[in-house]
Amino acid sequence: MTKPTKPFLQALSGEALPRPPIWLMRQAGRYLPEYRELRTRAKDFLDFCYTPEMAVEATLQPIRRFGFDAAIIFSDILVIPDALGQPVRFVTGEGPKLEPIRSARAIDQLDGERPEAFLAPVYAALRATRAALPVETALIGFAGAPWTLAAYMIEGAGSRDYATARKFALAEPAAFNRLISILEDQVARHLIRQIDAGAEAVQIFDSWAGALPAYGVEAWSLGPIRRIAERIKAERPEARMIAFPRGADAFMAAYAACPAIDAVSLGQSAPTSAFSAVRDAGAVPQGNLDPVALIQGGAVLDREIDAILAASAGRSHVFNLGHGITPETPIAHVEHLVARVRGKA
Ligand code: CP3
Repeated sequence: MTKPTKPFLQALSGEALPRPPIWLMRQAGRYLPEYRELRTRAKDFLDFCYTPEMAVEATLQPIRRFGFDAAIIFSDILVIPDALGQPVRFVTGEGPKLEPIRSARAIDQLDGERPEAFLAPVYAALRATRAALPVETALIGFAGAPWTLAAYMIEGAGSRDYATARKFALAEPAAFNRLISILEDQVARHLIRQIDAGAEAVQIFDSWAGALPAYGVEAWSLGPIRRIAERIKAERPEARMIAFPRGADAFMAAYAACPAIDAVSLGQSAPTSAFSAVRDAGAVPQGNLDPVALIQGGAVLDREIDAILAASAGRSHVFNLGHGITPETPIAHVEHLVARVRGKA
């Protein structure tokens, strides 16, 4: 195999570069005026995701503006429940809404044969994006982790602590485990199809891993993610795998120790010492600038950027936020961040 020359892929292979590659979670989105303009032309958010021309344009907007080292395909983690036949709506200002699934019967009604054709627009958008990207820019595909998807599917919306989903897991273990294993299979298939459409790396977002009780981590988060990563490595060995078990800070080294996981993304609650813990366990750390420090800017932002750069100097690292960029983030702060990480500010 020829050595990858894209800095993002080099870093994911464990190379220490003079400057870490950088991309930002939610880098396409409402903080960009060109995104807000494009968004007005779509009927609703999922329609936007399922219209390849619009998804490609949204994916490319932050690359044109900031020259990030990787593009992440414009889509959403909730396309999987939507494709399985549990319709998802996005209510402006309220977030996602689904008809909650709370019985074995409802789980049996999910249609595992539907997603491949239903999600064809996502794969079309990946192919067109890959053809349009600069040669040095890598393309990332993604999916939600089984636990985070199950949490939305059972709650029917976002939640502070996902207590309804956790209660369902304990009260109906057979049904819950069946849902997790359906999602494990569907997430793996969705990621493999994204790789076949041009994604060079895939990230699994376990955004609510921090809401899990310690006894549930192996069964509902780490185990499913490990098996998804192993299946992808077995079937598509060239693809790079990033896991983002947000908030499960006590377990980061366990995710990093999975041979099929190349990188572990850290939330802003992880201390910089977690970078070496991740590397010592065999993965590359990604993260973990506080998105609020990016809103604040100035001396606070520089201090936090420099702390991350110093903690990984001479070691492999992918620079990112600890969570998604928020709509109120000033564009000038993002420009400054990119310049500083590249040693130009
Ligand atoms: O990162 C990117 O630029 C790629 C696109 C992307 C989106 N969502 C677009 C989006 C990615 C990778 C996601 C992942 C996602 N979606 C996660 C995991 C990451 C995380 O934030 O923890 C989750 C939990 C979701 C579910 C989701 N989608 C919620 C809760 C919301 C509503 C909250 C909000 O920010 O509005 C969304 C909507 C969404 N997904 C938007 C975007 C750009 C905003 C919708 C709009 O433009 O109206």
